[in-house]
Parts: sequence; structure tokens; C-alpha cells
Amino acid sequence: MIILAIETSCDETSVAVVREGVVVTNLVASQIQLHAEYGGVVPELAAREHLKNLAPMVRTALAAAGVTPAELDALAATRGPGLPNALLVGLKAAQGMAFALRKPFLGIHHHEAHLFSPWITGDPPRGDFAAFVPNISLIVSGGHTMIVHVDSEVKHRVLGATIDDAAGECFDKAAKLMGLAYPGGPEIDRLARRGNPAAIAFPRPLLRDTHDDFSFSGLKTAVRYHIRDHPATLASGPQLCDLCASVQAAIVEVLVTKTVRAARRRGLRCITASGGVTCNQSLREALTRACAKEGFQLRLASRALCTDNAAMVGLLAERKLLHGVPTTDLDAEILPGWALP
Ligand code: KG4
Ligand code: ZN
Repeated sequence: MIILAIETSCDETSVAVVREGVVVTNLVASQIQLHAEYGGVVPELAAREHLKNLAPMVRTALAAAGVTPAELDALAATRGPGLPNALLVGLKAAQGMAFALRKPFLGIHHHEAHLFSPWITGDPPRGDFAAFVPNISLIVSGGHTMIVHVDSEVKHRVLGATIDDAAGECFDKAAKLMGLAYPGGPEIDRLARRGNPAAIAFPRPLLRDTHDDFSFSGLKTAVRYHIRDHPATLASGPQLCDLCASVQAAIVEVLVTKTVRAARRRGLRCITASGGVTCNQSLREALTRACAKEGFQLRLASRALCTDNAAMVGLLAERKLLHGVPTTDLDAEILPGWALP
């Protein structure tokens, strides 16, 4: 089966061609530079950029894969959740192509695609679904933080999510308070490597609670108060690194502790993680240490596939079609607030 997949839920335009479980092409055009000057994603600009990039990227992806439109077996696109106008560009383009080519179309849930990105490995990347085992999956991005019990490729249940800010949002907002460039997560990651994570005792929100929900807005406020009370911190390189390391340590400890606890409680011995924040070096190391200690298997999405991409959309679409999941109507609308079941 050959599938062309499109992802435009936020600020990355991505087009992939997948064939028999293998990612043949995965093009990603990041808009980070465009939004950086505004300190965050501007939805209208994101949609216009998708519109500008999409058609040439589809042509390039097909040419790079050596596939003609007529050879496609199906089309797929992210249907939600995400920024409405951004989603609209990718979904309607894929539905239009499916209509013109008389091929089936599948609208994919963005987080469900993230759930399967840790099972994509190798070069060229392929879906390692033979190795799949039920797992507890941590999705951590700029918009979402959730713990999901994944039973199979088509069966999962959300156990908990953030009740306010997402983990990536906390990284980005803390970085903004420190005067760092957008997106702040990678900047904090970089500076934290030279800092002392025990320098400042920031709160670990909801760490002791036995449920699987998160809350990060209080941590961001604690950073604001720390900077207000210690303004010299930002002028000193070593103190700024200590601040970054301490904020990062609080976020990472909460994420890792709650994910491991959820797996233990449910008797699952595999943890997976995906989403932009999974690029964070300290989070990757802490999850690796915790899983080694518990004797758990760990699957981290590769850095290239942590952030938004169409490869995960295409591979999941292929699995769903092979499982006999019904296709999506060609006039189906975007679902910007689509909750993961
Ligand atoms: O998954 P993603 O690309 O887009 C969303 O769907 O949100 O995630 C972007 C988020 C941003 O908040 C960014 O700061 C964060 O991921 N991020 C990081 C790192 N790389 C990206 N956070 C911490 N450390 C990193 N190395
Ligand atoms: Zn995402």
C-alpha cells in the first residue's frame, strides 16, 4: 500500500509518502523562524504558510519517492486537534486529491499519530509494529501533556492530562520570562547542561497526587516570582544556567515520576514518549534511568519524529486501513478540539 500523508495542525508543514510500513519520504518545513519574532505561533500566519508550502511539497515528496499520483492507494491528513485554519489547509488538500484521484481518504487524530511515533525506527524509518506491546505513553508537546494507556494500534485510553499549561508551554513561558528566544524549550535544555538542577527548589506540581493529571501553570508563576525577587539572576551566566536547570528538573521529575507510577499501577512494563518536549536531553536520560531501575522497556520517539511530522500520520493511516478501519468522508470537517478517546 502507498499512502501520501499531510500534517498541518500547528506550525510545521509536513508531507510524507509511506509504502508497506516504510517511510519513503518525510518532508518537514518548520515555521519557527516566522513565528519567533512574535514570541509564539500566530495562527493566521501559520495557515498562510501551509497554503504556500503545501502544493510544492506534495510535488517534491512524490518525485523524491518516485511515485505518481495514480499509484497512490490512499491519502491521509491530520483532522484534529490543532489550529483550525492550519488544519483546514492540510485536510481539504488531501480530500481534494482523494476526490480527484478517486482514492480513499483517512482523517487522523494528531495525538494518536504521536502515540505511534516511538514505534518508528531505522533508516529508512519503518513502523516496528511487530515489536509492539501494550504501554503507557507520555505525550509532551507545546500544546499537550497526557498519559495514555495504549492497548493496541486501535485501542487506547487517556488516563490523565494537564489541567492548565502543557509541559512545553511551561518551558516556553519560563524561557520568555528569562528573556530567551522562542521556542524556549531547546534554549533551556541547552543552558541547563551547565547549571545545577538543585540550585533552586521549585515546586513539583501534583507530584504526590495519585491521579494522572498534570498542572504546570504554578511552576511558571514560581519562576516569575523567583526572577522578580532575584533580578540579578538574568544578568549572570552561571545563575541563569542554574535557573534553567532547576526549572527543567522540576518539569522532568513530575513527568517521569507520574509516567512510571501509571505504568506500575496498571501492571504495564513498557513506557513510550513522544512530542516536542521528548527532544529534551534531561527528560530522555531520566526516563532511561527510571525504566532501567524498574526493568521496563522504553521506547522514545527519535528526535526527528518527536516534533510534528507526516510520517507518523501516514504509517498510522496504513495500519488503520489494514485493520479495516472505515475511511473518512471527503466532505468531513476539521475537528480542532477532537479529544483523544
Ligand atoms: O510537538 P511540538 O513540535 O509541537 C506541538 O504540537 O506543540 O512541540 C513543541 C514544543 C515547544 O513547546 C518546544 O519548546 C518544546 O516542544 N521543545 C522542547 C525541546 N525541544 C522542543 N522542550 C524542552 N527541551 C527541548 N529540547
Ligand atoms: Zn504534535
